[in-house]
Amino acid sequence: MHALHASEESVRYLYWEPLSPEAARERVEQRLGRRSIAEEGDSLALAVELAATGEVVGDVALTWTSRQHSRGELSFIIHPDHHGRGYATEAARLLLRVAFADLGLHRVIGRLEARNAASARVLERLGLRQEAQLVENEWVKGRWDSEIVYAILDREWRALQEG
Ligand SMILES: CC(C)(COP(=O)(O)OP(=O)(O)OC[C@H]1O[C@@H](n2cnc3c(N)ncnc32)[C@H](O)[C@@H]1OP(=O)(O)O)[C@@H](O)C(=O)NCCC(=O)NCCS
Repeated sequence: MHALHASEESVRYLYWEPLSPEAARERVEQRLGRRSIAEEGDSLALAVELAATGEVVGDVALTWTSRQHSRGELSFIIHPDHHGRGYATEAARLLLRVAFADLGLHRVIGRLEARNAASARVLERLGLRQEAQLVENEWVKGRWDSEIVYAILDREWRALQEG
């Protein structure tokens, strides 16, 4: 967890600064509790492990953000040494299946800082569409950031599976 969040590159478009070892440990402890989704606010957080070596190279999560609106949200981070190999896409694809096939959610979103092109690409490859760009809506790390919202509906996800 520390290796994932330790570099400026990793956290450039996230809300936090590089994590200290202590903060990373706390984050691991929190995430160990995020094993199932039963109530609004729950998350399923998964380590991305390379089958060949057992090395943990990433962290992906699905959060049930609203019971009323039947909505979930994806998040992901992959170690910089392993970018561009499809790992975020592969791991997040499984979480979309959990969201729609297992939990029966209506809508899943992804939110990102507007300059985070790699994250946008992952969401597009998964079939999410850009729905909104909120201009300078957040004050993060001493500057105004713009947020882009991507989304996919259950029927759209099912159509992709059939396709
Ligand atoms: C976003 C992130 C998880 C992607 O992980 P990854 O395993 O490299 O993603 P994938 O390999 O599945 O796909 C990356 C796609 O983005 C593209 N990409 C990578 N860097 C890019 C860039 N700077 N500009 C445009 N596209 C880029 C890749 O070419 C690839 O698309 P393609 O397969 O069509 O060529 C990774 O960059 C990361 O951990 N970033 C830091 C944390 C973060 O910002 N998380 C998202 C918060 S919203």
